[in-house]
Amino acid sequence: MNGLDALPRVPLATLPTPLHPAPRLSAELGVDVWFKRDDLTGLGLGGNKARGLEFLVADAMERGCDCIVTGAGEQSNWAALAALAARRCGLEPHLVFYGTPGRPVGNLLLDRWAGATIHYTRDAERSSVDRTIDELCARLRRAGRRPYAIPRGGATALGAVGYLLAGLELDSQLHEAGLKPATLWLATGSCGTQAGLVAAARWLGSAYRVVGVSVSRPVRECLQRVAHLSDGAADLVAMRGEADDVHVLDGYIGPGYGKPSDAGDEATALVARTEGILLDPVFGAKAMAALIAHARSDRLEGPVVFLVTGGSATLFARKGPV
Ligand SMILES: Cc1ncc(COP(=O)(O)O)c(C=O)c1O
Repeated sequence: MNGLDALPRVPLATLPTPLHPAPRLSAELGVDVWFKRDDLTGLGLGGNKARGLEFLVADAMERGCDCIVTGAGEQSNWAALAALAARRCGLEPHLVFYGTPGRPVGNLLLDRWAGATIHYTRDAERSSVDRTIDELCARLRRAGRRPYAIPRGGATALGAVGYLLAGLELDSQLHEAGLKPATLWLATGSCGTQAGLVAAARWLGSAYRVVGVSVSRPVRECLQRVAHLSDGAADLVAMRGEADDVHVLDGYIGPGYGKPSDAGDEATALVARTEGILLDPVFGAKAMAALIAHARSDRLEGPVVFLVTGGSATLFARKGPV
């Protein structure tokens, strides 16, 4: 038996998300590609973060908290989904963003629709969010509130349990489809998503490798974070499998975190034009650019599953390029 039943969980996502083949993209790349559609989780505009929020928001409620405090950059998919998840459960969302206010487009617009209280650190350093979350929580407590702090990206062991479960969900879909992928590809940022998938693959003894494409952090930091969060998630639910290597790819960040890359834009266009599926410029586009580069240089063994992680709001937070 595992410890999953003991964890509080609130249903926020529409699950399971579909797994389906991408025949025209596969023909284009010469490799059998399948999509796991976590852009269709159904909270807000969908996306991967809905899965971890089911556990994080439930934990906040179980602890009797009345607001959640989290943060990131103002175009964060995480922040917008956290705000909407909080509202779904009657909690008040407070969001901390690094830097100074920008244009109310994309996710920032969603945050406003959710009525989140928004705080800016006025410091361009991403880590300024972390100390401001602590300060804000202290201030809210002094005012008699009961805040629940969640680190950037929801990257905690508890948040990663959402993707441990996604890995189990994927496993039964793979069985049903008779599919034995060589690799499962995804974009990796704060690392909780990859960590959960790695924990599930280890628990199940899956034959595929989970390949994260780093879109923000140095690979060495990702490797440590994935290993740590994956063990933490597995321990929380008593589903620890045998440890093996963690795979994170470098070289696809482009001009920087949060900035679209040319290769990412090409990947987005290819996927939209072959499969009618939208990838976001910050995460999915860069992960797909990595997959395409591997296919085109004969370094990609099939079949592969690509996790579509959502984030479509940021498609509307930039100009062009088409
Ligand atoms: C659309 C999208 N894809 C992928 C990721 C990466 O997930 P993680 O931060 O768990 O590594 C994020 C993170 O915010 C995201 O918003």
